[in-house]
Amino acid sequence: LRGDQVIVVSNREPYLHQLEDGKVVVRRPASGLVTAVEPVMRACSGTWIAHGSGTADRQAVDKHDRVPLPPGQHDYLLRRLWLTGEQEQGYYYGFANEGLWPLCHVAHVRPVFREADWQHYRDVNQLFADAVVAEARSEDPIVLVQDYHFALLPAMVRKRLPRATILTFWHIPWPNPESFGICPWRTEILEGMLGSTILGFHTRYHCKNFIETVDRYMEARIEHEHSTITFGGEQTLVESYPISIEWPAEEETKRWPTPAQSRAEVYARLGIPPDHHLAVGVDRFDYTKGILERLNAVERMLEKHPEWRERFTFVQVAAPSRGALDEYRSFQERIHRATERINARFGREGAPVIRLLAQHHEHDEVNKLYRAADVCLVTSLHDGMNLVCKEFVAARDDERGVLVLSRFAGAAREMPEALVVNPYHVEETADALHQALTMPAAEQRERMASLRSTVREFNVYRWAGRMLSDAARLRLRQRVSER
Ligand code: G6P
Repeated sequence: LRGDQVIVVSNREPYLHQLEDGKVVVRRPASGLVTAVEPVMRACSGTWIAHGSGTADRQAVDKHDRVPLPPGQHDYLLRRLWLTGEQEQGYYYGFANEGLWPLCHVAHVRPVFREADWQHYRDVNQLFADAVVAEARSEDPIVLVQDYHFALLPAMVRKRLPRATILTFWHIPWPNPESFGICPWRTEILEGMLGSTILGFHTRYHCKNFIETVDRYMEARIEHEHSTITFGGEQTLVESYPISIEWPAEEETKRWPTPAQSRAEVYARLGIPPDHHLAVGVDRFDYTKGILERLNAVERMLEKHPEWRERFTFVQVAAPSRGALDEYRSFQERIHRATERINARFGREGAPVIRLLAQHHEHDEVNKLYRAADVCLVTSLHDGMNLVCKEFVAARDDERGVLVLSRFAGAAREMPEALVVNPYHVEETADALHQALTMPAAEQRERMASLRSTVREFNVYRWAGRMLSDAARLRLRQRVSER
């Protein structure tokens, strides 16, 4: 693929320019997609097309709406697209996040499908597809389409650039055919996605759900043996590529404060009593992340094990997310109320059990928290992969700390050395938390060493590399067949 042009399309941009206190600052968003795709783009350069959503984004671009990134390094180009308020409301908040997000996560929040949102979704997909065509320097670029914001774009690009290699990666789960079938535009969505050369999911299970969904609702030929779908004369390979993180380089880890320093800093900043054990959770403030179930498990653990009362703090980082949606706002209120209730029950004046930090945190701060913690709790009700658990493991070069991980996160399949729980089962999660807090150092080491070797090996370059080498194979096959 050397010399071929790579174009990434995603809704969320890798860096936002924000106006804060009269100054323009550059921020990284809280997004698993960005965490994974950005290092790949740094390595292969190319162009990244995304929605310019930062408050000072327009001030940072050239006359073609482009900005070189990362700041000061200039490995790739970001092309920003601008959306009207109505487009953002209909396409992003409406169809993507009130429709497809709950539809695919099956998290007991009812999807909402509005005709007007759907129209905006289609229009914005077309807008991004046009930008791909405009940015393409040849008739066969490699287009990496990211996530549920762009289900229609693959077929739109295919129509204009029939020889493009289109790799679509769906970062969230794919539900079973019955669940997906309630979407009024299920056929259009499936047709759009089948414009891809390769369609990637995190797990085999999501691939299977997708293939069964196509089988149920479309006239397409499915070859189970090769995991391909032929529709409208085009073939799509449906494959699983578990996403991951960039394993931190040694020069970087050398600059990290030691775990003891991290702990001292975190405890001093948050006023945590020095004799407390610490558990952390790091998520976007989203109803799929199982934050309420996690708080209930902390409460239950303190009920069952009074010895931890006044000796335990749980810090939850909850990055603001999609706050314009009612469902998110009422979820946030529920979490605030549960926090107050548990703190009133088990906290002391000046030393609450639960610290809810509902602000944006930069990676360095989060990394310090990971290194300070005895336990990291990841209790998603459903999650495509979840990268917090992998970041925690990467942060623990001291081979200490225990990961409690939801069996409903894609990551659970790769990380059985974690304490794997059903987050809906409060008792089980509470017991796992207690087991984590009392786990002997030698066992922590054994589990952590094994988790670290998995994440180090199956890092994000492996994810991208496998997808790109499948693409190279299919490109070659296409060229040969055209002879
Ligand atoms: C999930 C999605 C990403 C998205 C991220 C943050 O990880 O799969 O596409 O970027 O959430 O959500 P946001 O709506 O802020 O982009």
